[in-house]
Amino acid sequence: MAFVVTDNCIKCKFTDCVDVCPVDCFHEGPEFLVIDPNECIDCTLCEPECPANAIYAEDDVPDDQKKFIQINADLAVIWPAITEVQPPLPNADEWNGKPNKYELIQKS
Ligand code: SF4
Ligand code: F3S
Repeated sequence: MAFVVTDNCIKCKFTDCVDVCPVDCFHEGPEFLVIDPNECIDCTLCEPECPANAIYAEDDVPDDQKKFIQINADLAVIWPAITEVQPPLPNADEWNGKPNKYELIQKS
């Protein structure tokens, strides 16, 4: 199992999650982060840190977010690792909670 970043990270990218991950398994794209499922050790530390509540254990991913299990796996091999906290994206607070943001972004 692994933890999974889901839709509500998109256009927010608060990066609080990065600070607590002991194995640096977050990878960064222009508008959100993903977790490398091959690196995640299921420590659970990141889940409560996300201000957007975007992180779930794989078994707890809501049905309408299950596509993000594969999205995390696919993008983690393309995007570079991120190991340091950054400022959130502009307008992160406005985007926090808006649904279906994945359709709005560049995928690579
Ligand atoms: Fe990193 Fe732990 Fe979160 Fe996995 S569960 S992404 S190891 S902080
Ligand atoms: Fe995204 Fe939440 Fe981390 S918004 S960058 S998963 S703290």
